[in-house]
Amino acid sequence: LIKLGVFDSGLGGLTVYRALRKSIPYANILYLGDTARVPYGTKSAATVTRYALEIVHYLIDREVEAIVVACNTASAFAMECLRKTCKVPVFGVVEPGAKAAVKATRNGVVGVVGTRGTVFSGAYQRAIKELSSSVEVFTEPCPLFVPLVEEGWFDEEITYEVAYRYLGPLIAKKVDTLVLGCTHYPLLKDVISRVMGGDVVLIDSADETSFEVKDYLECGGRLKDQELGGDQFEVTDSPSRFADVGRIFLDRNLEEVFQVNVTEGEEVDGSDL
Ligand code: DGL
Repeated sequence: LIKLGVFDSGLGGLTVYRALRKSIPYANILYLGDTARVPYGTKSAATVTRYALEIVHYLIDREVEAIVVACNTASAFAMECLRKTCKVPVFGVVEPGAKAAVKATRNGVVGVVGTRGTVFSGAYQRAIKELSSSVEVFTEPCPLFVPLVEEGWFDEEITYEVAYRYLGPLIAKKVDTLVLGCTHYPLLKDVISRVMGGDVVLIDSADETSFEVKDYLECGGRLKDQELGGDQFEVTDSPSRFADVGRIFLDRNLEEVFQVNVTEGEEVDGSDL
């Protein structure tokens, strides 16, 4: 079985894990949540890139054969650097989401929501424009969505209020497609869809990424095994909150979560990957 390394700043990447598990049952997945240093969405490009490099170094030491950056902020800031320095294929969530948005839009007006880091990095805007320069892109950072999801407040008045406030400007721009450019937002799909209106297509970067990874593995003939893959969940802070809130993301208990140290050893500058 192929061994995939999947990482996020914390729990949010479990939406990507869930999508990967569904489309690629025949893989062993090592999931690393950097819970000691979450959130990434408020940090600088340099800091997030350093964290991401430390984690891929750790994952490569654990002998993963491909890496999925299951975090929009890390994908937005660090993809280029990770691809340049890693000897295994690295997949991010931004490009698949951008591709799906360009395909889905009918009026050529696309909205992107994400953390401040993701939105201000301009990564989605660039990826969409590269695919189609005529598509107009409007963005809105929605930082409060993350804690609302982690509280499990999906159908509360306050969640709708926050959503109206963030999404109002995008409705005014008449976006017909909205990229959910943060790991947590797919869990707010119902709220976001009701606020945006049923005609607006919501792009789930998690699903799109899992299709891309699956295509890649299938092309390389790596998905022939009929045995189901196993999971390993690791975090950089105490595992208990991860296991608790993980239930919201996966609808099941996470029995075993291990705490690990990804920064052990010498400083990482990427040159030895
Ligand atoms: N995983 C992050 C993302 O997708 C959201 C949480 C954070 O800020 O670390 O951008």
